[in-house]
Amino acid sequence: MNLVIFGPPGAGKGTQSNFIVNKYNLYQLSTGELLRNEIKNKTQLGIQISSIMNSGKLVSDEIASNLIEKFISNNDYKNRLIFDGYPRNIQQAENLNFLLNKYSQQLNIVLKLSVPLDVIKKRISGRSVCSICGKIYNEFFEPAPKNADCCANKYLQKRSDDTLEIAVTRYQTYEKNIEPVIDFYKKSNLLKVVNGETSIIDINNEISGLIDGIKGWL
Ligand code: AP5
Ligand code: MG
Repeated sequence: MNLVIFGPPGAGKGTQSNFIVNKYNLYQLSTGELLRNEIKNKTQLGIQISSIMNSGKLVSDEIASNLIEKFISNNDYKNRLIFDGYPRNIQQAENLNFLLNKYSQQLNIVLKLSVPLDVIKKRISGRSVCSICGKIYNEFFEPAPKNADCCANKYLQKRSDDTLEIAVTRYQTYEKNIEPVIDFYKKSNLLKVVNGETSIIDINNEISGLIDGIKGWL
């Protein structure tokens, strides 16, 4: 099964992908995470994209496409991919279909997490990520365990694009590009809208129900 999960910044794409990975043995392909790794490793691509990422705008479609094709073309991930943060515009949605087709795969479900801007601001301001294991926390909603070895306070990091100002630009970038993507997936009957404002566990359960309901999969 291949699935897309999309939604505004802070909607819970990473949090829910992590749950789906563990429950269904899929692989999370987060384009944002891959791009941040390029910046962290100071690669040529990382140097090229760092200011774009920190402005809240999108990197080029070509860069994003090259990243995902590496995974779609790899047999280890065949029919096991969660696309977290791809596509973000209609060109990317069409390109994703093209690439999946090229490697004899298809999408089975598209999840849209809906969350309004005021909730997003609070989530982003409280987010931290463990630099050792990558687990996502939130000082208001999902605090890290106090005495853990791995996710101890000293390992928790803020993302450089998690300032209020950049988060609002990221949200505007999302709003500006996403309508045609929503229509595209509505037309192909793949779109499921999930209320992303409820608790993490309630959303886990809703998503499980939707995935379990895909005919011919489990
Ligand atoms: P990316 O890293 O994907 O950032 P984003 O889209 O802004 O989304 P986030 O990762 O911020 O949020 P999330 O939805 O994963 O939420 P999370 O689960 O962490 O992309 C970064 C940048 O890379 C882009 O701006 C762009 O520049 C570039 N990029 C990426 N993909 C691209 C592409 N395809 N094309 C071009 N450019 C691309 O949750 C957030 C917080 O809320 C956490 O603290 C969590 O604990 C908490 N939380 C989650 N769910 C709940 C809940 N239900 N209740 C309470 N708290 C919750
Ligand atoms: Mg994320």
